[in-house]
Amino acid sequence: GRHPGRSPRGLDFRPVAANRADAVTVPDGYEQQVVIRWGDPVLRGAPAFDPARQRAAAQAAQFGYNCDYLALLDLPSERSRRLLVANHEYTDEELMFAGYDPENPTREQVEIAWAAHGMSVVVLDEERRSGALRPVAGHRLNRRITATTPFEFTGPAAGSSLLRTSADPTGTRVLGTLNNCGGGKTPWGTVLSGEENFNQYFANAEAVTDRQTAARLARYGLAGGASERKWERFDERFDVSREPNEVNRYGWVIEIDPLDPESGPRKLTALGRLKHEAAEPRLTRDGRVVIYMGDDERFDYFYKYVSDGRVHSGNGLAARRHNRRLLDEGTLYVARFTGNSPAGQIDGTGALPEDGEFDGTGEWIPLASGTRSFVPGMTAEEVYVFTRLAADRVGATKMDRPEDVEPHPSTGTVYIALTNNSNRGAAGQPGPDEVNPRNANRHGQVVEVMESRNDPAATRFSWRLLLVCGDPADPGTYFAGFPKDQVSPISCPDNLAFDPHGNLWIATDGNALGSNDGLFGVALDGQNRGQVKQFLTVPIGAETCGPIVEEDRVLVAVQHPGELDGATPENPGSVWPDGPGHLARPSVVNVTREHGGRIGA
Ligand code: FEO
Ligand code: CA
Ligand code: CA
Ligand code: CA
Repeated sequence: GRHPGRSPRGLDFRPVAANRADAVTVPDGYEQQVVIRWGDPVLRGAPAFDPARQRAAAQAAQFGYNCDYLALLDLPSERSRRLLVANHEYTDEELMFAGYDPENPTREQVEIAWAAHGMSVVVLDEERRSGALRPVAGHRLNRRITATTPFEFTGPAAGSSLLRTSADPTGTRVLGTLNNCGGGKTPWGTVLSGEENFNQYFANAEAVTDRQTAARLARYGLAGGASERKWERFDERFDVSREPNEVNRYGWVIEIDPLDPESGPRKLTALGRLKHEAAEPRLTRDGRVVIYMGDDERFDYFYKYVSDGRVHSGNGLAARRHNRRLLDEGTLYVARFTGNSPAGQIDGTGALPEDGEFDGTGEWIPLASGTRSFVPGMTAEEVYVFTRLAADRVGATKMDRPEDVEPHPSTGTVYIALTNNSNRGAAGQPGPDEVNPRNANRHGQVVEVMESRNDPAATRFSWRLLLVCGDPADPGTYFAGFPKDQVSPISCPDNLAFDPHGNLWIATDGNALGSNDGLFGVALDGQNRGQVKQFLTVPIGAETCGPIVEEDRVLVAVQHPGELDGATPENPGSVWPDGPGHLARPSVVNVTREHGGRIGA
């Protein structure tokens, strides 16, 4: 067996123990600080949070609900300040409003929810000595994007008849973004964000009689009558029986330029329409941009986009204009994974095949490029708007819910978190394969994808599993061969990040081992490869999101604290972070060393 050395640089901390505390817990010698909470002022004139008197106009100027993806940008013009970009994925009305009646939401509550979705851009003051971060309310760069902010469609499906509605007969302009989950930073300074479970906002799919439309709606998870939030009562566009194309205007990757508050946000049709989890870029040696993307659904797919054009360096107007088109002209691909062990050795338990690894090769299958479709029976516009149906036709590999993806900053290996798949191997459902090796997969796995010749534009790759997650005492788990009595249990990997030393960090959502979710560091090289160490835990009912790991800080978004069945403000599942008598508030947390110093050093 392997003899682990001491922890590599960046991972030298004593792991925190799994727990059920209503708190963020961090290792000994570290301290934490809440940076910004749901309802804290962002725009000039925003009032302080007042849970008893919430108003939509106030919420539209305050930090939104359920922070997920986080990006932290440098502000070249202002030293000791940083620019935070945060997604606000969705709302938990029953936790936000005392006495909420889910059958009869008020217009004010619905409009608060619209304003609590979307994104926030907030300048932060950085205190040099302690590393503390504090929002600069009212800064000119601060911005809120909500469910009603105008967006422009760009790329090959902009203006398509499939995107036209009675409010927008041009098919080029849509109000708002919804269910923004993960994201990514581009090399040209913009931020990408994925619209994920948009289906839940749209009502009355059951009333659609046209067979083709009904099949398309079903493939994207639309079913039934009234929506959970009843938004269709307040805006007809959320009723697909009245406005059938409005739903086609969600499920895209969006791009915003946080350094330019005047720039309009865009929805990028060239990257396809799915339940976009995240979008992470990598550059080819000749400067083309490749975007890796997962579709977070049981048995859905892993994609990439390769631009035709090359990134122009610099921040001048000409370069920015050029770079704005990189995500409009290119080729969209979907992945097919093949195992190298006999199928009979993949028995669904997680037991390793005889060659000792879950591994193999794969290929990228082109779906469309500009106006050209590679999918028989579908136009390019149909491929972009109904990308799942295109991928179904070309034999892509049905994965265990692709969540975040992150290319290693120096090796180029692409890491994918496959969070779980309770239906793998169920009656009438696909069984195990080498990349998705467990039936009734409750804990998920992490895949490494190595592009051929390490060229991100390659059409072939090899792959292997880094982790098969769960309780290390469970024989169906795998930690890259690291001794399993020396790792932290980990379940349901979701968001991924790299630290400056090249260690992978994994945030979890839905820990099926019975403890709260958390953040874990994992060594990837040498004797310590596969050593998972838990760095923090989040409060009851929360998932860990948006990890950013810098030399001297870790930033996480604590999403949906207190989200438990039946929890309400009167009967809270969590009172984090403000304590008893206060609503639970999704918030961003900054973790630093006591007395300063490097993370994990
Ligand atoms: Fe919003 Fe797939 O996590
Ligand atoms: Ca194998
Ligand atoms: Ca996620
Ligand atoms: Ca998630």
